[in-house]
Amino acid sequence: MTDIVSIKNLTVTFHEANENVYAVNGVDLTLHQGETLALVGESGSGKSVTTHALLGLLGKDAEVKADAMQYGETDLLHASRKTYTRLRGQELGLIFQDSLSGLNPTMRIGRQIGEGVKAHRHLHGAALKQAVNAAIQEVGLPDPALIARKYPHELSGGQRQRTMIAMAMIMQPKVLIADEPTTALDVTLQAQVLDLIKRQKAKRDLSVIFITHDLGVVANIADRVAIMYAGKIVETGTANEIFYNPQHPYTWGLLDAVPSSDDQRKELFTLPGTPPDLREPIKGDPFAPRNPYALAIDFKEMPPLFQVSPTHFVRSWLLDPRTPSYQPPVTIQKRWARFAELTKEPSLAVAVNQA
Ligand SMILES: Nc1ncnc2c1ncn2[C@@H]1O[C@H](COP(=O)(O)OP(=O)(O)O)[C@@H](O)[C@H]1O
Ligand SMILES: [Mg+2]
Repeated sequence: MTDIVSIKNLTVTFHEANENVYAVNGVDLTLHQGETLALVGESGSGKSVTTHALLGLLGKDAEVKADAMQYGETDLLHASRKTYTRLRGQELGLIFQDSLSGLNPTMRIGRQIGEGVKAHRHLHGAALKQAVNAAIQEVGLPDPALIARKYPHELSGGQRQRTMIAMAMIMQPKVLIADEPTTALDVTLQAQVLDLIKRQKAKRDLSVIFITHDLGVVANIADRVAIMYAGKIVETGTANEIFYNPQHPYTWGLLDAVPSSDDQRKELFTLPGTPPDLREPIKGDPFAPRNPYALAIDFKEMPPLFQVSPTHFVRSWLLDPRTPSYQPPVTIQKRWARFAELTKEPSLAVAVNQA
């Protein structure tokens, strides 16, 4: 399996007038060629900052450090501005989290979608118009010629989201980073946008980083999942491993917040407590104060990464062999039981992606 993106020990610190914000605290992340990796965590966990660091989009107030940051053969840590401009134009596509900040309010939709191909692929005139209309059509927007003449505020939220996908896809990127592309949408539109990304991916050799705070969306789209908390990846595994064999109490909390089909609860369980203040360096496991399973050592020392399988890694002291035995919540015990069944019947092991 080829890694198309590889990040090792990334830290991002924002230097503000009187304080620092430790937004990303040692992230290791790889994206395999052709896969969809979901990056999941609550708001403020560092998902956007991590990917913006990768794309060279952070401002001067951000101090970015890493042991390595690679796109294919390109060393992004030492990439020139010119290299980055080319990569962002032709190889690395981003769908911004917020369609209002991702789109220029004073420019017609058609021109915005066409700008990139005009600059990077030197399309002009009728060829450019044709490419733009095709891109608009591709994302399922009706009447491309009409849409092309509109301004962002004249479109609905769903249409703007599609416009952003069209803007990214027209460049035919190798890697697509979709930053919470469905968060502002209702359930029906969410499903349509997910489907759209899946179809784009099936059509050609695209690798995707799909960012979301909602594990519920992930089952539908991800091959692998990385769970992020307070600027660190705390658990990573295949979609099956994360859904049916989760090991980190934070992942348990996120999973319990997802309504399942055999679950009639109307009111969603939300994780108690709040994420830590990132203006202070964190001692121990940042999740400890919210963790009902926290051990004394959690408050003193950051847990190392424990390996569960060749594809499954967890940063929690619960995995340490010295930890006394414990029982996860009943909801999670049920998932573990299902995992035991799934691993007995390997033919069923992909079911999670079609749920
Ligand atoms: N330009 C900035 N200056 C200072 N702090 C920032 C800046 N951008 C992001 N942050 C902080 O970095 C942390 C991670 O932010 P972000 O990556 O946007 O979270 P997520 O995308 O997971 O919701 C947050 O605490 C956020 O307030
Ligand atoms: Mg974000």
